[in-house]
Amino acid sequence: MIDQKTITNWNSLFENESPEIVLRFFLEYFKGKIALASSLGPEDQVLTEMAASISPDTKIFTLDTGRLFPETYDLIDRTSKKYKINIKVYFPDAAEVEEMVSKKGINLFFDSIENRKLCCSIRKLKPLSRALSKLDAWITGLRREQSVTRNNLRTVEWDENNGLLKINPLINWTEQQVWTYIDSRNIPYSPLHKKGYASIGCQPCTRAIEAGENVRAGRWWWENPETKECGLHQK
Ligand code: ADX
Ligand code: SF4
Repeated sequence: MIDQKTITNWNSLFENESPEIVLRFFLEYFKGKIALASSLGPEDQVLTEMAASISPDTKIFTLDTGRLFPETYDLIDRTSKKYKINIKVYFPDAAEVEEMVSKKGINLFFDSIENRKLCCSIRKLKPLSRALSKLDAWITGLRREQSVTRNNLRTVEWDENNGLLKINPLINWTEQQVWTYIDSRNIPYSPLHKKGYASIGCQPCTRAIEAGENVRAGRWWWENPETKECGLHQK
């Protein structure tokens, strides 16, 4: 297990380093025991491009909740082909989804925060635990400016919920930096972004945003900004 002193040292070391340098270091340090979690969002596409060029056999996985946009499935396919990579897809447990839906309804998440968290737990968190179970570290596309719940994040964090290290190479990047990188390298992205969808998750729980709204305003838009984490990144 990595101790807090090492995490603090790594954070001072990498504070002003580029995402490529951070990625290169941790992919090598945790070789074979590290994976990139991708929702196929713009940040994850940037990291996929970087990881594929640093080490083409980098493990990349996505959580298919069963409620994703068709455009996201299409992007999984396009990205896999472009980078000649195998994006491993994790599904929720069929029996658990069936039981939840039969007890609470197919769109239970609109009825209460409790129901929404149950759905996220069954469709996302449990598959995530499976995906992380044999790893020492995971890489995410989190950025500090994305939301009030992410302001204090660091490049390297101990993920208490899952018991492994979490690496956030793009933590300091702005939205503009992400899109400039995507445009300059012709990286594939979801056509939904051109239709006002900034942050994309499950179809029923995501809407387009208006000019001036926070990038995550369209996620679980009926809830308060403070509750809007599905648990993937909650402490
Ligand atoms: S979420 O918690 O609200 O869904 P968000 O969509 O902002 O998170 O994504 C933040 C990071 O979490 C992504 O960059 C990615 O690393 C990871 N992530 C989110 N959703 C998924 C998913 N479905 N599959 C794999 N990783 C994901
Ligand atoms: Fe369920 Fe919505 Fe969470 Fe997706 S985002 S797992 S549909 S509650």
